[in-house]
Amino acid sequence: MPLATLRQVLDEAAKGRYGVGAFNANNMEQVQGIVSAAQEVGAPVIIQVSRGALSYAGKNYMRHLITAAAETAPEIPIVLHLDHGDKPETCYDAIELGFTSVMMDGSLLADGKTPSDYEYNVEVTRRVVEAAHAQGVSVEGELGTLGGIEDGHGSGEVHLTDPDQAVDFVDKTGVDALAVAIGTSHGAYKFTAKPTGEVLAMHLIEEIHQKLPDTHMVMHGSSSVPQELVDRINAALGIRHGVRKINVDTDGRLAITAALREALNANPSEFDPRAFFKPAREAQKQVAAERLMQFGAAGHAGDYQVLSLPEMAERYDRSPVGA
Ligand code: G3H
Ligand code: 13P
Ligand code: ZN
Repeated sequence: MPLATLRQVLDEAAKGRYGVGAFNANNMEQVQGIVSAAQEVGAPVIIQVSRGALSYAGKNYMRHLITAAAETAPEIPIVLHLDHGDKPETCYDAIELGFTSVMMDGSLLADGKTPSDYEYNVEVTRRVVEAAHAQGVSVEGELGTLGGIEDGHGSGEVHLTDPDQAVDFVDKTGVDALAVAIGTSHGAYKFTAKPTGEVLAMHLIEEIHQKLPDTHMVMHGSSSVPQELVDRINAALGIRHGVRKINVDTDGRLAITAALREALNANPSEFDPRAFFKPAREAQKQVAAERLMQFGAAGHAGDYQVLSLPEMAERYDRSPVGA
C-alpha cells in the first residue's frame, strides 16, 4: 500500500466519527513502536516528523524508515506528515522528500517563536496549499497559538482561535485540516494552575465545527500529562465535534524515558543496547495503542483502499480552492 494522505485518512475518520492519533517519531524504535501498535489494534495512523526529528535522524534515514514501515505493514494506512513546518520552503523540501502531508504553521513567523499577523498566515499557507495540492499532498494550517515551548518551538503565549476568522482562513487557504488553539500546550508542563474541566475552551471546538462542518480539526499538545483524565475526557468530546487528528509527542517521550531508566537501573551490568531499546520500543507501542483505541480508530484500518498522490491531485484539480 502506498503511504496515505492526511486528507483521505481524516475524511474516512469523519465518516466513521473517530479520531486518528498523530505520533511524533525521531528514530527506528519509535517508528516501529507506533506502527506495531497500529497493526495490533488495526488502526490507521499518522507518523509525524518535526524539523528537529529530520535534523536528528537525517532526512534520508527518516524517509526510508517510514517506507520500511509501509512495506512491513501494508494493511495499515500510514500518513507521513511534516509537523510544524516553519516556512513554505521547509514544506516544499518535505514534499520533495516524499511526505504525503505537511503542516505549514503560519501562526508563528519563520523563527518559530514570534506570533505572526493574520495576513502573513493566510499568504504562506495558501502558497503551500497550492503547491502541495498540485502533487496530491495534504496541508494542515494553524490559527491561534498554543501555550508551552518544546525544543525552542512556540511563543509561549496563548491566542485562542476565533471561529469567524477560522471560516475566512479555510476559505482563503483551502487547507485540509486546521490546528486550533483551545488552550492546550506543547510539552510536559501544560498548566501553571491546577486545571479544571473548563481549562480547555471546548465550546470553541463546537462553534468552529458548526461553522466549518467539513473541515477536519487538529488538536496539538494532546499528551495527557499531568491531568490525564481531564484531557482524555476532553479528547473524546473534541472528536464528537470534529477533531480528527490528535497530536501526541510528550506521552511517547515520557514512556520511553521511563522504560530506559528502569531497564538501566534494573541491569547495571548490561551493556547490550538492545536490552534497553526493546522495552523503550514497547513503551512507545503501548502509548500509541492506548491512544488509538481511546480515539476510536481501532478496527478501521481496512475500511478503505489508500488513494495514491496522483489520484489525490486529480481530486483537487476537480475542486480547486475558492471554486
Ligand atoms: O510540537 C512540537 C513537537 O512536539 C515536536 O517537537 O520539535 O522537539 O521534535 P520537536
Ligand atoms: P505534546 O508534546 O504535548 O503531545 O504535543 C505534540 C504536538 O502537538 C506535536 O505537534
Ligand atoms: Zn504541535
